[in-house]
Parts: sequence; C-alpha cells; structure tokens
Amino acid sequence: MSDRTLIVGNWKMHLNVSQASLLLHRLQERIRISSDIEVVLAPSMLVLQPLSVRLDRRKFRLAAQNAYATDEGAFTGEVSFTMLRDLVHYVIIGHSERRIYFHEDLKTVRAKVAAAVRNEITPILCVGETKEERKNGETRKVLHDQVTTALADLTAKEVQDMVIAYEPVWAISTFQGILAKPDEAQQAMDYIRDQVKQLYGPKAAKNVRILYGGSVDDQIVGGYLAIPGCDGVLVGGASINYHKFSGIIDTAYRLHRKAD
Ligand code: PGA
Repeated sequence: MSDRTLIVGNWKMHLNVSQASLLLHRLQERIRISSDIEVVLAPSMLVLQPLSVRLDRRKFRLAAQNAYATDEGAFTGEVSFTMLRDLVHYVIIGHSERRIYFHEDLKTVRAKVAAAVRNEITPILCVGETKEERKNGETRKVLHDQVTTALADLTAKEVQDMVIAYEPVWAISTFQGILAKPDEAQQAMDYIRDQVKQLYGPKAAKNVRILYGGSVDDQIVGGYLAIPGCDGVLVGGASINYHKFSGIIDTAYRLHRKAD
C-alpha cells in the first residue's frame, strides 16, 4: 500500500453551496488529521470559494473539476487555471464525462495539463478505455495515446509530481457501472506506470501517483487500495454520500494501521 493514500471526491454537478457546506461540516467533524491519508474534495466551480473559507486545511485540500487552458482573455463563460491557482491544489483533467459530453480531445487535454502545471496546480489526469475499446483489445493503445499526449509538454520532474487516475469508462457508475476486478485495474495501472517509466524514467514512474476510479464505494474500496502500486482512489457517486465517503476514508486508515 502507498505511503500516503490519496482519496479524491469528485462531486460532479451535485450540491449547491449550502448542501456542500453541510457535507463538509459533517466530514470535517468525523475525519482526523492524518499523515497517512490525503483527502481532496472537488466541488463545482461555484462552491470552491465558499468552501475554501470553511475548510480545515489540515484535513482537506480542494480540486477543481475543470478549467480553461488559456490564462486570460475573451472566452465567455470560462474560468482559467490562473484564476484558480490560489484556491485549489489539484484539478481534474480529461475526465471521461468531459471527453464524451464536451468533446475534449487529446489536444485539449494536453493543453489543460500544461496550463495546470504552468499555474502550479497539480493535474489529476483521468484516462481510461470505453467498453467497446476494451472489447476490441484496444485498452493499451487508448491508455498509451491518452497518457503520452497529455504529458507531452512536461518535464520528468513535472510528471513525477502529478496524479494519473485510471478510470475505465465502463466502470463509472453513471455509464455502465460494471465493477472492474482489482486485477484488471492493476494491469492497466501497471501499464500506465510503465509508459511513464519509458518516457520519463524510473524516478518519475516511481513517484507519479496512480489512482483507481470507477464505482468505488465503502464496501469495495479495500480491494482497490490493496493493489500494489495503487496510490488511492477517485470517487464519484459515493463521495456525495456522507456515510459512504467517510467509510472509504475509514477503510484507508484501517489499512494503514494494519500496514504499520
Ligand atoms: P463513480 O465516478 O465513482 O460514480 O463511478 C467516478 C468518476 O467519475 O470519477
């Protein structure tokens, strides 16, 4: 198990300011300060600012779910990484919902990763194949293309500081929601780390954090956290449920205590 487990809650387009504040308040009361676990919350853009003033920074960090790759300009409706840099530690980039619903292609994802790094925000790059691509034996090709393009503008040092989440599209609860077996997840995560090694060397491969995401909840999280080389989980649906999300964090604590 990883030295420090990263647990990211992607709240997607759920929870307004008061609902989000309430959930934060309850989680904050329940969660302890720990050097073993890093908990990151990714609320909607609108909620980031009000949550940041209520947040106990010893317990949580914030992530944005998206941003625009240009730092400033006439781009109606967009928010740039530059605008977010004092507010968030992380930003989720290349989530399958953005690739599928908002047609973000490899080039767009690459520009966003570069913009995040330029603005000193750590990217959480999401990669993963669709059910169709897996059926056609294209999983490795898809992961290869998504990983290599997204990281193309970065140095080895920048790559080693970032986070990559393997999220098979077919396992995400709002798509097919089929549970990936831990060994299926492991194969893909090993492949991603190997790609990083080939392109950026052993140090970047060792240090880059690789998460698993796709229908993770409090009942099954232990199986994924036990995967060798798994540095944590990216949680969607279960992260807006107080009991499920705090159960996920409890499991991570328990596993760390057992490992010590
Ligand atoms: P899920 O979502 O946990 O609801 O499957 C994961 C994600 O979309 O990041």
